[in-house]
Amino acid sequence: MKSLKVLEGQTAVVTGASSGIGKACAIALGESGANVVVNYAGNPEGALAAVEAIKAEGGNAIACKADVSNIADVENMFKTCIDTFGTVDILVNNAGLQKDAPFLEMSLETWNYVLNVNLTGQFLCAQAAVREFVRRGMTKNSQALGKIICMSSVHELIPWAGHINYAASKGGVMLMMKSLAQELGPMKIRVNSIAPGAIKTPINRMAWETPEAEKRLLRLIPYKRVGTTEDIGNAAVWLASDFSDYVHGTTLFVDGGMTLYPGFEDNG
Ligand code: BGC
Repeated sequence: MKSLKVLEGQTAVVTGASSGIGKACAIALGESGANVVVNYAGNPEGALAAVEAIKAEGGNAIACKADVSNIADVENMFKTCIDTFGTVDILVNNAGLQKDAPFLEMSLETWNYVLNVNLTGQFLCAQAAVREFVRRGMTKNSQALGKIICMSSVHELIPWAGHINYAASKGGVMLMMKSLAQELGPMKIRVNSIAPGAIKTPINRMAWETPEAEKRLLRLIPYKRVGTTEDIGNAAVWLASDFSDYVHGTTLFVDGGMTLYPGFEDNG
């Protein structure tokens, strides 16, 4: 699909794109012809590496620093995007983090930090993107006025002890995405989520780093491999393109079957 340049003429903002899933989404969208704003909060080197990778394939990209939970930063990022590329057509609402703690040890600060980035950050970026979609109006580049892809997780569905802030943020993303889809569909704005399962990134290094850890993790994955960031980048390209024009308000699980309750495979 990438060689088809299915996103030619369009511009994407990818948040949290200096590493992991966000970086892979930025590169995949860039390889598919989109101009890309590679957002980062604290890792300029990672963001520049993504920009270079996109440019090496003949694409256009810039790095842009912004804390997605800060409204002024978000407004500046979208202004930079519009000043540079004219508009925005695609938002990959990816920036997210984990700060785990057992329930009784979780401070209010830790709770708020994760909710602010993972959920409020997606709200702020979606609002800024939709404002621009509406201002700009339809173009010949897509059947939709704009596309929003929210990065969720299998933990929008699977409860996760020891990670209540993270699981609550992803459960929130699920109904935010669906409510947005209901509200924005009549304006021809498509809103969907990707729910990755276990993907090899820095966020879950401990779960796959050693052979023993990986073996334990594979018990939870019927397809018997840990995911790659490219698995998610490919899904993002499809959801951003008109190949998925009738897909709206849906969570696409890209998880090797992690949500199939593999613990029940031999007996209930
Ligand atoms: C988490 C990872 C975890 C995966 C599957 C993701 O949303 O960020 O740490 O490995 O879900 O449990």
